[in-house]
Formats: sequence, C-alpha cells, structure tokens
Amino acid sequence: MTEFTPKIIRTSTLREFKNNKQKFSCLTSYDSLTAGIFDEAGIEVLLVGDSAADNALGYKNTLPITVEEMIPFGRAVAGSAKRALVVVDMPFGSYEGSPEIALANAIQIMKSTNAGGVKLEGGLRSVDQIEGLTKAGIPVMAHIGFTPQSVNTLGGAKVQGRGDSADALLADAKAVQDAGAFAVVLELVPAELASEVTQLLSIPTIGIGAGSGTDGQILVWTDFAGLYPGTPRKFVKQYANLREILLQAASRYRTEVLSSEFPSQEQSHQ
Ligand code: KIV
Repeated sequence: MTEFTPKIIRTSTLREFKNNKQKFSCLTSYDSLTAGIFDEAGIEVLLVGDSAADNALGYKNTLPITVEEMIPFGRAVAGSAKRALVVVDMPFGSYEGSPEIALANAIQIMKSTNAGGVKLEGGLRSVDQIEGLTKAGIPVMAHIGFTPQSVNTLGGAKVQGRGDSADALLADAKAVQDAGAFAVVLELVPAELASEVTQLLSIPTIGIGAGSGTDGQILVWTDFAGLYPGTPRKFVKQYANLREILLQAASRYRTEVLSSEFPSQEQSHQ
C-alpha cells in the first residue's frame, strides 16, 4: 500500500491512516519549543495532556490542574505546530458534572488555544459529554482503560480489561465510537485486547502501554526523552537520555562560571 503523507493532519486524516493500515505517532507536549521540534520530526498528533500537571507544574498527579492552567500550554503548542493535529486534554472536574459543563469548558479551550480537538476520559460514563461536544462541532478524542483522573478509584496505575473486565472495556470502546469520538486512547490494556478493540472499531485507536496492535502510539514526552531518574515504567522506551545530557551541561556550566572560564572573550561584547 502506498504511504499517505498529508501536509496537514486533521481528525479525518487519522481515519485515513487507519483505513490505509498506516500507523501514526503521538507525543505529549506542553510548550512551543518541544511542539516545534516534534512537529518538524513529523509526529502526527501533539497532545497537550493534563499530564502537564505532574510534568510541568509539579503536582503529584493530574487531578489538580484546571482549565485556566491548561490553556497557556494548549495555546503554546497549537501556536507552534504547523502540521500536527493538536488536542488539548479536558482536566478533571471540567466535564464530568454534565454535558452543559463539558460544552462550556470545551468551548473555552477551543477558543483560547486554537487546538483541533479535546480529549476526555471515560467510556460509557462520558457518552453524553462526547455526543454534546461532537454535535457542537468540537472533535473529541476519548480515553479508556486506565484513566489517570480516576487513579483514586482504580487503586493506582493498573492494567485494565484483564479477565472478566474485558467485556466492559469493549463496551466502553464501542460506546465512545457511537457517541462520535474521532479516536480513542487505550491506556494500560493487555496487548491482545487492544488489538481486538482496534479490529472492532472504525475509529483509530492510540495505545499507551497497550502493545503494538493499535493504530497509533502515544508517549509522554518527558518519558520518551528520559527526563526522569531511575527505571522507566514497562511500556516506556527512552529514545534519549536528556536528563543525563542536561545534568552534565548544567554541572559543566557551573564549573566554568565558578572558575571564570565562562564567559570568555568570545561571549563578551567589546
Ligand atoms: O495526559 C496525558 O499525557 C495522557 C496520555 C497518557 C495519553 O492522557
């Protein structure tokens, strides 16, 4: 099959990738510089994840981040990406209450960031919200399996859909598609089940910790770039060791400042 190389990635492009059996890549991004780099590298989707909470704002998990805090991240990424589809997460508390609350917050996010869509968590429990946003012209990416905003009820970051709960996950997947979602993230789902969901759905699936059978893959950029110390989680592959590079650069800079080696003549105005 010939590779399809669109100039701009839209929500419909992801469906075309799926129909063409062509995989696509997604990364999170929270700022204009990384967004520009990932976009230049050809990453198809940039997700302004609510993981900005723990990766940029220093919160312990994603629960505290607000719509107001998400907006500058979304604006920075959408302002920088020339080709990628930019999707902004709806934070915890901004959509669960009712479809009306979800619509008001999604409109605020879309107007303020110029993103191409929003993402929200939940399967069957979020169908009214997904339907409402889709009817209002706001593309929705759904997110099922392990949903980090429910970490307190799920009892930690655990694989979802094993054994008897596979049917519930399949029902969630079908429900978000029927409600109008343009794609669905499958987080921490057994590889075989994620492949089954991918075969079942006509909308693209995007896996994180869900094996290789999904249509697209997503990683949190600080994970893929190796910014965290210690052993990464099982599903993470580190494509760089930026922590080590920055650590060495900062130590060297400090040494040179203390020894007056920096700034030299070269960095000084005459
Ligand atoms: O917020 C986020 O980074 C996410 C990804 C884990 C999919 O939702």
